[in-house]
Amino acid sequence: MITLAAVGDVHLGEDAQGRLRPALEHLPSRADALLLAGDLTRHGTPDEARIVAHEFADLGIPVVAVLGNHDYHGEAVDEVTAILRDEGGIHVLEGDGVVLRVDGARLGIAGVKGFGGGFEGRCASAFGEPEMKAFVEHTVDIADSLRSALKELDADVRVALTHYSPVPDTLHGEPLEIYPFLGAYQLGEVVDEAGATLALHGHAHSGCEHGVTPGGVRVRNVAQPVIRSAYALYRIQDGGESA
Ligand SMILES: [Fe+2]
Ligand SMILES: [Fe+2]
Repeated sequence: MITLAAVGDVHLGEDAQGRLRPALEHLPSRADALLLAGDLTRHGTPDEARIVAHEFADLGIPVVAVLGNHDYHGEAVDEVTAILRDEGGIHVLEGDGVVLRVDGARLGIAGVKGFGGGFEGRCASAFGEPEMKAFVEHTVDIADSLRSALKELDADVRVALTHYSPVPDTLHGEPLEIYPFLGAYQLGEVVDEAGATLALHGHAHSGCEHGVTPGGVRVRNVAQPVIRSAYALYRIQDGGESA
């Protein structure tokens, strides 16, 4: 059995050193890996990234992350990523994956930030202005990179980690008007195509935890304001997520 701990949207600022750490100390006895679903910082600055890196360093279990839109705000993504990797030992994914050995099984995690666009007939389309085409092409490109990353995982269990949501289910509680800025159906299609066991995301602070893709893959919104704890735990047994 594999147990994953997951949280997103911790939004650590420069004054947040040590805020989460006490609640993370017992993680090795509770989970096999910790997954971070983006929006790790408030404004995506290198100084904030250093706070995040030290908060999640040396936890005793692997830490795997994607970035969120807040982590892009400072336009320092490469530096932020390098700090998280070098000072925090965090596997930062964007269009790639990592395979971890857990209890004799190969746990594969593929990650992308994702992007918006909307869902089910109420979505943006690549038509008209070049800006609109660029918006949708960005979503499609990221979904394509998640597809490749999931399919390339040489693993027994595949988990998709994104910041933006692959489904509308986990957005319930958010205003309908902003759904197109919270996720995109293309991410859900990819999760189904690749045969993922579980999809984790954040970004929707006012959404709900539980959802499912059209193909039946369980989706969990782990934004910290949603799960209301340091992390949520998900157990994967016999290829299915059980809690
Ligand atoms: Fe957030
Ligand atoms: Fe976000």
